[in-house]
Amino acid sequence: MSARASTMRNTPLYRQLEQHLSQEIHQGRLAAGERLPSIRQLCAAHGISKATVLHALQRLENSGRIEARPRSGYYVKAELGHSDSALKSAHAPAKRPSPVNVSDLLLDIMERSAAFDLVPNTSSSVIEPGLLELNRAIGRAQRLNRSNYHQYYDRPEGLEGLRGQIAKRLQRRGCHTLSDEVCITSGCQNSLFLALMATTKAGDVVAVESPGFYGVMQLLEQLDLKVVEIPTSPTTGMHIPALAEALKQWPIKVCLVSPNFSTPSGSLMPQGHRDQLLQLAEHHDLAVIEDDIYADTALTITPAPLKAQDRQGRVILCSSLSKSLSRDVRVGWIIGGRWHKAIIKLKLISQLAGSRSVQQGVADFLVSGAYDSHLKRLKKELTKQRDYLFTQLTDWPCTPRHRPEGGLAIWIELPPTINTIELYARAQHEGILITPGSLFSNNGEYTHYLRVSYAHTWNDERKNALQILGRFINESAK
Ligand SMILES: Cc1ncc(COP(=O)(O)O)c(C=O)c1O
Repeated sequence: MSARASTMRNTPLYRQLEQHLSQEIHQGRLAAGERLPSIRQLCAAHGISKATVLHALQRLENSGRIEARPRSGYYVKAELGHSDSALKSAHAPAKRPSPVNVSDLLLDIMERSAAFDLVPNTSSSVIEPGLLELNRAIGRAQRLNRSNYHQYYDRPEGLEGLRGQIAKRLQRRGCHTLSDEVCITSGCQNSLFLALMATTKAGDVVAVESPGFYGVMQLLEQLDLKVVEIPTSPTTGMHIPALAEALKQWPIKVCLVSPNFSTPSGSLMPQGHRDQLLQLAEHHDLAVIEDDIYADTALTITPAPLKAQDRQGRVILCSSLSKSLSRDVRVGWIIGGRWHKAIIKLKLISQLAGSRSVQQGVADFLVSGAYDSHLKRLKKELTKQRDYLFTQLTDWPCTPRHRPEGGLAIWIELPPTINTIELYARAQHEGILITPGSLFSNNGEYTHYLRVSYAHTWNDERKNALQILGRFINESAK
C-alpha cells in the first residue's frame, strides 16, 4: 500500500470528505457561488453517514470555504469583495525573485501611516480600562523593583513568568508550547527580524504574501534578501498552488506567512490550505515564519496558529501585544522551533535583554485575567467599528468587499484609474492619512487599492474624514 493510501486510511472519514471538497473548491471544480451536492448525494457518493457529512460541512463552513443557505443547501463561498481582476491576480503565478527596493516615498508613507488612523491623535483622552490595568501592573512591578532589576540584565530569552503566560495562551489555542520554547522580544517586527536572521543569509530567496505586510519588505531589503511575492487571496490567504509552482522554480529558503488575518486583507487560511502549506514546507525543507500578530483581533473565536500543526519544529511563530493591546508596551515573542537557540543568541547580540519590570507587569496583567476581559470588550468594539465602515463604503465606487473576521482593516479595490498614492497626497492636505495599496508589494502593484482601518472609534473627526475621502474617490472615479 502506498504511503498516501495508508495516510488516507488513517484519516477520519469526515476529514477525508473535508479534504476532498476543499480540493474540489481549490482546483475550481466547485466554483465560487456554486451549490455543493446535497447531503444525501454526498452520503451516497462517499458511502458515509449523514453525521459524518455534516461534520465535514461544518468544518468547511467554520473555515470560511462554504456557507449554508437556509432551505437551499451549502454553497461555495463567493470571494466577496473583489473583482474578477483581483481574483485572477490572486491566482496568478508568482513573479521571479527580485531584490527589494523600498523607495523613500514609501518609507515616508510607512512611517506616517503605520498608525492605522485616518486622523491621528484624535482619540479621546479617556483611557481604556484594559490599558489602565496594564499601566497599573507595570507601575507596581517598577515600584516593587523585584531583585534589584536595575542592577542586572535579564536573561536574553526573557522573564520566566511571562514566557509561561505566553505558552499557556498558545496551549489554549491547541499549540503545545512550553515556556522554555518561548523567547520574549521587543515586538513582532523584532521577532520577524530575529526569525529571518536565524534562517537566511544574504542573497537567499524568501516567499511572502502579495499583498503583504510592508514591514517585512523593509526587513528583506536590510538583510539583502530576495523576495518572491506569492499571490494572496483576500479571503483564503496565500495561494498554495502558486507557492508550489514557485518552489519548483526557485531556491526558496523561507516562507513568511500570516494564516490568521493577513495584512492588509484580513484573510483567514482554511485548514486544508494550512495542511498543504506544511506538506510543501516538509517536501522542500522550508522554514516557515508565521506572523500571528492579528490572532487576538479575531472577532469571534481566536483561530489556532499554524505552529499548532508543526511536528518538525520548522514553523517559527512571531507575535506581540501591539494589535490587541498596546503598540507602546513593546512586548512580543518568538517560538523559534529548531532555531530557538540561535534566536536567543541573536537576541543577546542585538539587544542584550528586555526590561524585566515591563515584562513582570505584563505577566501580572495576563495572570489577573484583565487581558481576557480587555479582549472581550475589544472584539465588541471592533465588530461595531468594522460594520460602521462597511455601511459607509456602500457610497464608494468599489466592488463588494470581503468582511474580515479579524485584523484591523478592510482592503479596498477602487477603479483602476485611481492612483492611491495621488489620493494620499490630496488627503494629506486635509489632514487625513491613508494607506495606499502600493505599500503592500515590491512589484509596483495595487496602485488602485487602499487599506482603510477600523482600529479606532468612529468619532466625528474620523467620520468626517471618511466622508471627505469618499468624495475624493467618487470625484476621481468620474
Ligand atoms: C502584520 C504585522 N506584523 C508585525 C508588525 C509589527 O508589530 P510590532 O509593533 O509588534 O513590532 C505589524 C505592525 O504593523 C504588522 O502589521
